[in-house]
Amino acid sequence: MKILGISFGKKNANTDILVKEALFGCREAAPDAQISFINTCSLNIGRCRGCGACSTALEKGKNDNVCIFKDDFQALEEQVREADCLIVGAPVYVLQPVGQFKDFVDRFSCRHDYSAITWIMDKRRNGEMPGDPDGFPMERLKKRTVSYISVGGATTDNWTSMGTATLHLFGFPPMMKVMGNYNANSMGTVGNPLLDDQMISDMHEMGRRTVEGYNDDSAEFFQPSSKPAGVCPVCHQRLITVNPGTTTVECPVCGIEGKLRIENDEIKVDFSEEQQARARGTFAGLREHTTEIQSFGSICGPKIMANKEKLDKLMKERIKGFDTAINNK
Ligand SMILES: Cc1cc2nc3c(=O)[nH]c(=O)nc-3n(C[C@H](O)[C@H](O)[C@H](O)COP(=O)(O)O)c2cc1C
Repeated sequence: MKILGISFGKKNANTDILVKEALFGCREAAPDAQISFINTCSLNIGRCRGCGACSTALEKGKNDNVCIFKDDFQALEEQVREADCLIVGAPVYVLQPVGQFKDFVDRFSCRHDYSAITWIMDKRRNGEMPGDPDGFPMERLKKRTVSYISVGGATTDNWTSMGTATLHLFGFPPMMKVMGNYNANSMGTVGNPLLDDQMISDMHEMGRRTVEGYNDDSAEFFQPSSKPAGVCPVCHQRLITVNPGTTTVECPVCGIEGKLRIENDEIKVDFSEEQQARARGTFAGLREHTTEIQSFGSICGPKIMANKEKLDKLMKERIKGFDTAINNK
């Protein structure tokens, strides 16, 4: 078994401490595992430039969908691909995980979308796309478990409100099974967590659970007793989007709809089994999106073809010629 801890925090600071403690927990559950740790702080991971080279490579028949921009991204990606269990920690910078985390996710996650890749392989099998139907190295989408640690300086969850929720964006496209997420508060002073016995014990339990989840499909998500339970039964987050004019809400992480009610002055949200089965991190949820985005062409294509000259003119005058157009006004 290969276990990988990734910290997006400062070297030897609090995110490193918590990720490493969770790795000690992993060691307790998997004494023979190969365990490694990476701190990303000095790595050069540029942003996704949306060039589409990764997706068109597969569509054209290539057997992998590598990112064509070369920097430190590839080395980190390779380590993630090889890992069976992962602990991912990031500091909160302005309510969410530090930007480097999102840069990594943007370049990693779409390219490891389980549904998108198997969809292309199915198209090849049906002769609708070129390439070997069994060509994609499917071990890259192998079973994995993950736990997330969000590390904030604020004393309460109020200023870390999108920390753990955003960390979930890392693992859902390749359908990693989430075994825990932890929101660590009051993490401004380096070393602080090492003196918090409850937090260290929670890290160890989350590490053990991450390994257990890999070995046993029935192992349950780790809910620390010291933290409030989640509302969404799938991702265990407490973020909710309200659908105006209705009593329905959505979990923004899983994209599933729930029904809001008040019971004994307490807000409750019921998510049906049917909705839970189409959460973003399930195959059904991912496939729903793969299918949905196929309609881009049929919605926009005819409009663009019918107005090609007008569009070319508008692009030239108003977009490429923006500086002239705006200053002539
Ligand atoms: C630019 C910046 C923005 C921050 N924003 C927040 C914030 O919104 N909420 C919060 O709880 N902590 C915030 N912090 C504090 C860090 O999350 C905290 O110090 C954390 O321990 C850093 O992780 P590290 O010790 O692993 O580097 C911010 C820190 C920096 C540098």
